[in-house]
Amino acid sequence: MNTQIKLFRKKLKNPLFLPSGIINEVADHKLAVDAGAGCVILKSMTVEPREGNPIPRVVKYEYGILNSVGLRNPGLEAGKKQIKEFLKKTKTPVIISVFATNLKDFKKMVSAMSALKPFAIEINLSCPNVESEFGEMIGNKAKQSYEVIKGVKKPAGKIPLIAKLTPNVDSISDIAKACEQAGADAISAINTVAPSMIIDIYKRRPILGMKKGGLSGPGIRPVAVAKIYEIYEAVKIPILGMGGVEKWQDAVELMMAGATLVGVGSAVYLRGYKIYQEILSGLKIFLKEQKITNIRKLIGLAHNGK
Ligand code: DHB
Repeated sequence: MNTQIKLFRKKLKNPLFLPSGIINEVADHKLAVDAGAGCVILKSMTVEPREGNPIPRVVKYEYGILNSVGLRNPGLEAGKKQIKEFLKKTKTPVIISVFATNLKDFKKMVSAMSALKPFAIEINLSCPNVESEFGEMIGNKAKQSYEVIKGVKKPAGKIPLIAKLTPNVDSISDIAKACEQAGADAISAINTVAPSMIIDIYKRRPILGMKKGGLSGPGIRPVAVAKIYEIYEAVKIPILGMGGVEKWQDAVELMMAGATLVGVGSAVYLRGYKIYQEILSGLKIFLKEQKITNIRKLIGLAHNGK
């Protein structure tokens, strides 16, 4: 059974990918490559290096993970060198993710990163953990999202652009449409559900250093499915879907909602890298059983009946 899938004129060996932010160090993304992910998205980088938010930055609970990493990253100069090294050694397509709080910095990031010729660049419009520092996220508003994507189109040159959206908005389809109109080549959805908080009842205070964080893991999967479903009805560009996938059934669900690729992130953190092969094996059996000859045929299937 063939699980290859085409995105941006490139054939990926399968539709599973590592979403941004699960792995911090650039070189460590090799773990997902070696585990057989179809592509990997690096942790978002910013112009200046960032230490990240106060610890603890990550906390598990029974249905997933809360994180408030605060964009811990080496910054553009050091980051570029690390990525260059990583790209040299990696045959699997690599997507670079960039974050900024204004168009000028986004342009700077995109022109520097596009020179490295990655498979694509993800424009992170939706980090929930730096709002207290930088104010409201760009991805909350269609107009600002449009302006950023439009503005980075030229510095991106021929490198495809992916807009990463937050689910924490009234209409994710309006934001997705604005990004498509501005020239985005794909949509990444969903980012973490935020804000979220867990309180240590004996210490009588929130566990995360920043108190609040973004929620990922199995608990958010139905949110992801609904948002991907909405985006699929609103735009023609492909969707890199993610949110709580940990079983092959979940991957089928996201594809039926409209995802071309399916991210597996928190599940790697919770269950280990073997999960990519486990999901792929299940997918192959399902496709055979259902007499679906090409995995691409799953995309948007849940929309047929309306
Ligand atoms: C972080 C979290 C996110 O959900 C994101 O999109 C980017 C960064 C973080 O806290 O580092």
